[in-house]
Amino acid sequence: MTNDRTASLKKIRDEVLHLTVSPLYKERIKNKTLPVIGEGSHHARIMLIGEAPGRNEAKTGRPFCGAAGKVLDELLRSAKIDRAGVYITNIVKDRPPFNRDPTPKELALYAPFLDRQIAIIRPKIIVTLGRFSMRYIMEKYGLEKRCGPIGALHGKTFKASLPYGEVLINIQYHPAVAVYDARRIAALKKDFAALARMAKS
Ligand code: URA
Repeated sequence: MTNDRTASLKKIRDEVLHLTVSPLYKERIKNKTLPVIGEGSHHARIMLIGEAPGRNEAKTGRPFCGAAGKVLDELLRSAKIDRAGVYITNIVKDRPPFNRDPTPKELALYAPFLDRQIAIIRPKIIVTLGRFSMRYIMEKYGLEKRCGPIGALHGKTFKASLPYGEVLINIQYHPAVAVYDARRIAALKKDFAALARMAKS
């Protein structure tokens, strides 16, 4: 089973590596950087989904290893959630130049890889980090009518029915908000503490 999951995830990596139709592929080749597929347990109960790799991530091929990653690590630590036990990925697997927002075309190109990662890992809790993954996941799983500004939805949890079973969708701010404004870390920690309590119950 583990090997099946690993092989299926490796296939995704190989396909993204050769995703020549993506405008971000050309950027990656030009800058000699890496796609960021995801990392963590292939049997994770919790999957965290960010937006797109930043500079450090594209250099290393690892999600959330730069400034936003430090905040995420602090949030996970404060909630006593082991980073190695969860799976962390993004919707968009290549870095948009200058960290600009992903375009609708880029989201549409990369989202099917995320869908496959979810189907392979089968998490019980999907945590969206920021408005892009929030919007994508809520629309994908029939929650579009309940979607709204992240300022109103952060910390909230919704139920969704996936082909492999019921999943909880937990909405979180993007950790980068605390990179730009350190005063927000307390609110983020509160939402992560609630996530940890829910994950235990
Ligand atoms: N921001 C994201 O959304 N994802 C990363 O991997 C890093 C920063």
